Amino acid sequence: IDIEGFQQDLINWFQAEQRTLPWRENKDPYRVWVSEIMLQQTRVDTVIPYFNNFVEQFPTINDLAEADEDKVLKAWEGLGYYSRVRNLQSAVKEVKEVYGGIVPKDPKEIAKLKGVGPYTAGAILSIAYGVPEPAVDGNVMRVFSRILSIWEDIAKPASRKVFEEAVRAIIAKDNPSDFNQALMELGALICTPTSPSCLLCPVREHCIAFHEGKERELPIKTKN
Ligand code: ADE
Repeated sequence: IDIEGFQQDLINWFQAEQRTLPWRENKDPYRVWVSEIMLQQTRVDTVIPYFNNFVEQFPTINDLAEADEDKVLKAWEGLGYYSRVRNLQSAVKEVKEVYGGIVPKDPKEIAKLKGVGPYTAGAILSIAYGVPEPAVDGNVMRVFSRILSIWEDIAKPASRKVFEEAVRAIIAKDNPSDFNQALMELGALICTPTSPSCLLCPVREHCIAFHEGKERELPIKTKN
């Protein structure tokens, strides 16, 4: 694979075609954090109004840290998975008290925050701070399984590390924010689970599965 050509084609497509989404208005790490937590178990169209209301009610880490828990839970009502927002408020209190209200830029430090797993840590670090860390969720595993023809069962927890190392080897070090967001966007808009739109894909010339006609057989995902 031509890594530089892939990076450039992917990022150019993202810059031209990305959806306008409220969490892309700026790179405030707190806003990126809130959006990624909401998007973990909830679709983009559902998240948008919740995100806008949440950051209006709690605009900063300090505001959320100091807010009454019942008001915070009320703002989450309808999104479900309430442990997400309890963990988020607990973690922003930690950021306020331990890090002076600044989300840490160090992968080891950010990973200690409650509810911040490897995906969320990589998303915040890359999108908000430009740190070249992978942000691998199921969508990114699907995209990479096709691009590199990786026949690993993405349902196995151990597979995530395989894909993280693959992304680490290919991520654009000069623009990890757009690179990671482009992978998410490609997975959402083009490289979809059952019927990928390869004829519209900006990186099909770099895609091993497309060249081999195997895009519909990948990723491998066992039921469990
Ligand atoms: N899904 C997960 N993270 C996302 C993001 N930042 N933008 C759009 N969809 C996403």
